[in-house]
Order: sequence, then C-alpha cells, then structure tokens
Amino acid sequence: MRRPFIAGNWKMNLNRAEAVTLAEGVAKAVENVDYADVAVCVPFVYLDAVSQVLKDSKVAVGVQNCYFEKNGAYTGEISVEMLKDFGCTYVILGHSERRHILGECNAVINKKVKAVLAAGMIPILCVGEMLAEREAGETDDIIAEQFYGSLAGISPEDMKKIVIAYEPVWAIGTGKVATPAQAEETHANLRKLIAVKYGQNVADSVRIQYGGSMKPENAQELLNQPNIDGGLIGGAALKADSFMGIITGAKK
Ligand code: 13P
Repeated sequence: MRRPFIAGNWKMNLNRAEAVTLAEGVAKAVENVDYADVAVCVPFVYLDAVSQVLKDSKVAVGVQNCYFEKNGAYTGEISVEMLKDFGCTYVILGHSERRHILGECNAVINKKVKAVLAAGMIPILCVGEMLAEREAGETDDIIAEQFYGSLAGISPEDMKKIVIAYEPVWAIGTGKVATPAQAEETHANLRKLIAVKYGQNVADSVRIQYGGSMKPENAQELLNQPNIDGGLIGGAALKADSFMGIITGAKK
C-alpha cells in the first residue's frame, strides 16, 4: 500500500515572517494526521527558519531546486550538502517552471536527481506536458521522454525512493485542473513506464503525486484514483487551512 504524500511548493512567495507563521500553522493543523506524509518545499532563504519551526513536527521540509556539483566556483548555486546541513529532506526537481522558464533540460535534471540521492535526500521529480502537446496527442511521448531522460542510470533501489509528480503545465496556477480521469490515465501510464524499466514490484511502490490547481474542493476525488498517491500543491499550500483541506482529502 502506498502512503499518501502531500507536499506544498511555496515557489517564490512569502517573506520570512509569513513563512514562519505558515509553517507553524501547518504543523499545528497536521498534529493528528496519521494517514499521510506531509512536507513543505520552501524558498532556500527560509529553509533554516522553517526547519527550526518544524523540527519536532510531522511536517518534513524540502526545497525547489539544487545544483549537482559538490562545491566550487558555481556562482549563485546551492549544493546538496548545504541543503542537508539545514534539515532538508526533499528536493523538487524538473518543475515545469524550471524546465520552461529557466531552460532546464533532462540531462541536467538527471545529474541533480543523482546528487540528491547520493546525499540521502529524496527527489520529487516533476514531469508534465504543455497544452499544445496534449492537444497534439503527444502527452504520453512527452512524459516518457522526461521520465527516461531525467532518470537515466537510476538503479531500481534508488527508483523506489524517488517521488514522481505529474504536473500538466496547462493546469499549473491556471485554475484548470485535470479531470480525475485525465490525471488517472497519465498516472497509470507513468506506472507502466516504471514497471517496464524496473519491474512491477518497484512500480507498485513508487508514489506519484498530481499537481496543478489542486484545492480542497477537488482533492478528494483526485486522491481517490488508484494511481494518484498524493499532491504537489502550489497556490493552495500558501494558507494552512486550504493546505489542510487538501491533506484531509487523502484520508481513506
Ligand atoms: P498550483 O497548485 O498553484 O496550480 O501549482 C502547482 C504546482 O506547480 C506545484 O508544484
């Protein structure tokens, strides 16, 4: 049985005081949650403050990117060891905003996945098609290309640790959520890709989150689909009560 996993992606939002207040609110809201894993992925500069707030709570802390080199002359970058030093557990990689706005490609994402695993942290690998690609019937091809490219050279043991987030680009921040049937179809295909490469055993254990305009009102129906194992939440994760509303939707 895959345990539901709900993670907030705070993106480039909040100031320090707001980040601390939100972390406190989430920690309190999930005090009695025993049916799901919960994490918040924060801007780098708030990692220290939020980690301290959440250190004895049920909420794990993550970030939204990293660099793959250990250290050295990489101006502006943050290494996995630096993140570990501040209590980071999860690293979102390959988010569509990084792929499409910052120009990250599968080869770079693949190096980051390996660096995060080598540091003992957990990658949340994002994949997802753009609207034109969906309309052209290319969704499965795009997802397969991102899956194989981002996960090249990953062992079955490591694959079991990785979380995948399916985030259709047209549903991110647009209020246009994928229907439960659309999301389930892509999640099932993703699980088939994992099974083909790593075997059914591994495929059955990997958690696949859905992301894209998930809200308390639509979370339960999405999370009830057999291959949807959680959510990666943007806008609705910026308020403790709406984030908690989504977490409640994971209760079976
Ligand atoms: P929204 O929930 O704001 O659509 O964002 C989803 C997302 O990109 C999470 O990584």
